[in-house]
Amino acid sequence: MMQRREFLKKGMVGTAGLMLSPKSAWPMPASRTADSRIEVLFDEPIGTISPNIYGHFAENLGGVLYDGIWVGENSRVPNIDGLRKELIEHMRKIKAPVIRYPGGCFADSYDWRDGIGPADKRPRRTNFWANAESEKVPPNHRYDPNAVGTNEFVHFCKLIGAEPYLAANVRSLSAEAFQQWVEYCNSPAGSTTLADTRAAAGYAEPFRVKYWGVGNESWGCGGEFTAQEYAVEFRRFTAWLPSFGDNLSLIASGPNTDDWTWTREFLTELGRKGPGQLRRIYGMALHHYAWNLSRGKTQNWEAGKGDALKFDDVDWYELLREGDRMEGLVTGHWQVLSEFDREHRVKLVVDEWGPWYRPGSEATPGNLLEQIPTLRDAVFSGMTLDIFNRQPEKIAMANCAQLINCLNNLYLAHEDRFVVTPVGRVFELYASHQGGNALRTIFSAPTLHYDRDGKPATFWGLRGSTSVRDKNLTITVVNPSTSDLRLAEVVLRGATVKSATLSWMSDPDIHAHNTFERREAVMPQTKSLSLSGGALMVEFPPACVAAMNIQLS
Ligand code: AHR
Repeated sequence: MMQRREFLKKGMVGTAGLMLSPKSAWPMPASRTADSRIEVLFDEPIGTISPNIYGHFAENLGGVLYDGIWVGENSRVPNIDGLRKELIEHMRKIKAPVIRYPGGCFADSYDWRDGIGPADKRPRRTNFWANAESEKVPPNHRYDPNAVGTNEFVHFCKLIGAEPYLAANVRSLSAEAFQQWVEYCNSPAGSTTLADTRAAAGYAEPFRVKYWGVGNESWGCGGEFTAQEYAVEFRRFTAWLPSFGDNLSLIASGPNTDDWTWTREFLTELGRKGPGQLRRIYGMALHHYAWNLSRGKTQNWEAGKGDALKFDDVDWYELLREGDRMEGLVTGHWQVLSEFDREHRVKLVVDEWGPWYRPGSEATPGNLLEQIPTLRDAVFSGMTLDIFNRQPEKIAMANCAQLINCLNNLYLAHEDRFVVTPVGRVFELYASHQGGNALRTIFSAPTLHYDRDGKPATFWGLRGSTSVRDKNLTITVVNPSTSDLRLAEVVLRGATVKSATLSWMSDPDIHAHNTFERREAVMPQTKSLSLSGGALMVEFPPACVAAMNIQLS
């Protein structure tokens, strides 16, 4: 039975009861009585939503870097210093706060020293993912030309207005290489030889990189460490690092999904040198991919996956069910953290999340791990971001895997073609949550019932999250039903509505997606909402992700 870690190692070496959604418009309920209710409790603030929850992940993998982000200065594709211009413009629009790079598994085989200095002097190296690449892909997918290195990546972030989050190599480089990478990025102009090297490349001022991952998936591709072994490495790699006056936020390689043991054993071993060790950790990484659509038949990493584009209503619900596990993972790992860190100084950093399908739906044939996101992935992404918004005190950062041309991508690009996927549109819909104050909100709606291969299964009927900033209230909502419209009464306990709009994304076809040819097949629509008899009654069509933007009086 193949597991994810074995797959990654290769790199190193509706329903029976519900019909498919009709092409026609969704059926209207017989009566206009609300079947759902959204109650916002202004006197129950939960915490500030870190903008970094809306973070991204760009690994040197397949078409992410080369073709996706980097097109080269001499390309006919509009670019800023070699970086795809249209991508930068879209990322500014969603206020992208932070981008993780260079991996993923790639990080633990990467030497940052290969990616600095004059571009024509940089070495070509075998990419971590080379073994998994097909012969047909462009050479730079298998053999890293190092055209993009620290300078180009940080420049990309600065052009967007995002913070860089760099993952250090713990498997195959030394602690010295890590501290020198920090020195290269952050030492003041003129202070060190590495600062001079940076200046010679045109970057005299320090990059002031704050977020540093200490390895990636150290239980697997990042070194096959036990939790205890990794704790020893973590202590050694972080025992001393130059800070140059800024506190570094160090992120420890955390568990895969529900591996509570990893979290517990890592923290136990770390603490053997005293409780102060914990203070070195800003965040504990957590990775969770929704991949198993086998309806409980297998745990095999290959066999369990579903198709990105061909699916029925049960697959739709199964994907959401797999993604919905995130809430329990966040609260579960938080609980384990509390055994060691009563004051909860250490936060969770969900630096890889999203659906992972089997190969076959690449927008650019051959691109490794590329899949075309549909409306299902948009609903999934909205649901996941809502989970994060509801746990603001626990989650410091989250990074959707991955930004472009890979897994749950916001964008697809190939040469001069570019498209915003439905997932990218969700990040637009949800952007106003960033930095808002989350409010407890009660969602009540009929539970969904479906037939899971002869066994009854259920899923919640309506959920979302709420935040307020000054007089602006954002309520995001997911209606997961593939067939039923929800009519919800929205009640604000402690505030009154001045005006409101609803932006929503849905489609009678649950497989709807954008392509290079049909770039706007799935797009959010917006309308004003009016109060009826003092109440706000809002319709959420089936298979819908929505944002209400409410001005308070
Ligand atoms: O996102 C693809 C891969 O998934 C990453 O490289 C790795 O960290 C994870 O297993």
